[in-house]
Amino acid sequence: MPFSSSTNCQWLSDQIIDSLRHGSFAVLREGPIPQHVAFVMDGNRRHARTHGTKVLQGHVDGFAALKKVLEISFALEIKFVSVYAFSIDNFKRPKEEVDGLMHLCKTDLLDLCTPGGLLAQHEARLNTVGKTNLFPPEVQAALAKAEELTKDYHRGVLNLCVAYSSRDEIATAVEETLQAASLEGRTKPFTERDIEDRLMTTKVNSPPPDILIRTSGVKRLSDFLLWQCTDNTQIHFIDVFWPEIGMVDILPIILEYQRKIWSQ
Ligand code: FPP
Ligand code: MG
Repeated sequence: MPFSSSTNCQWLSDQIIDSLRHGSFAVLREGPIPQHVAFVMDGNRRHARTHGTKVLQGHVDGFAALKKVLEISFALEIKFVSVYAFSIDNFKRPKEEVDGLMHLCKTDLLDLCTPGGLLAQHEARLNTVGKTNLFPPEVQAALAKAEELTKDYHRGVLNLCVAYSSRDEIATAVEETLQAASLEGRTKPFTERDIEDRLMTTKVNSPPPDILIRTSGVKRLSDFLLWQCTDNTQIHFIDVFWPEIGMVDILPIILEYQRKIWSQ
């Protein structure tokens, strides 16, 4: 059966949107591109509530948004993307919700890393950042497998911050510094550099974020990358739930970054 005119119209409109999208990316890539963008992915449950769906569906939609954001970031040639996927505090959430998030790690996240998956397609490496030893053994195994599958990719990097909090990261770095000093019998005071070298993000060779974006209208950092956010980090609190984030939210932020760099 030949295509109906409505199918043709839809096809044409998809083509136009696709060309506009590629055109905008190409124009932006002509300017300075941030090396590292970090996201506090907030608002999954409120998104679920406003759509009358279950909390877990909110997280599933959140995972789909993560894929969308990665596509946009890789198209813009942003090398490092960090996302706050599960804080240490999140262990206090209802068991069903925690189990659902663990399930996403074991299934959908692993899919991203297998050959043909999004990270593999973009030659991006997955780093987990956080105390993953707090997760059930099968989740730890899935995360380790996901990292192993992507370890030889260098074009892009996804830092998945899970079982993470900044205070824990800094406290752990201080403890490691003290242990090293005691082993070496060192008595001189330690410096910022000693701590910085032992941060989880330093261990995965990530630079400080140029941009940090938190969705859902909430204006807090919630213990995310507190040490890493420097004077040069452009912080944005945007009024959209994470599952609904899109190009229209991200592109103006990149433009603002470019204006900032050009005006320096
Ligand atoms: C914050 O929204 C979101 C989370 C605690 C989980 C983030 C997880 C995803 C985006 C899915 C992908 C993640 C994995 C595990 C691979 P919220 O639950 O705090 O919602 P609210 O702010 O509306 O209450
Ligand atoms: Mg929240």
